[in-house]
Amino acid sequence: MLTGIGAALAGVGLVGPAENAFAAARTYTVGKTTDVAVGSARMYTVAGIPVLVTQPKKGVFKAFNGYCTHQQVQLSGLNGTNLVCEQHGSMFNTTTGKVTNGPARTGLATYKTVVSGTTLKVSL
Ligand code: FES
Repeated sequence: MLTGIGAALAGVGLVGPAENAFAAARTYTVGKTTDVAVGSARMYTVAGIPVLVTQPKKGVFKAFNGYCTHQQVQLSGLNGTNLVCEQHGSMFNTTTGKVTNGPARTGLATYKTVVSGTTLKVSL
């Protein structure tokens, strides 16, 4: 069954500089862990980039670039354990971001997720 991907309406906040002063990536707070139910996906806009966060297993959060690697269309569907691009039907695994159905040939870029209590953060 194809379902839509939830979208976050709130903006994301940048974590204080002391927390990542020596890190190449910046860490952004995107929301609460409860915003992304087990088996679902949610799209956030982080520093102007669409970022898809999934929770394929309880307590395991994954984050991916939200653009399809075929022709850079924003992903918009979820079918079981696959993120779906409705433009031409490419699918990507919700745990790894790897292609499970073409025409895309390259997996999604992945980002590190950090859970702090119930706060969900993503490093870009
Ligand atoms: S743009 Fe996503 S499958 Fe073609």
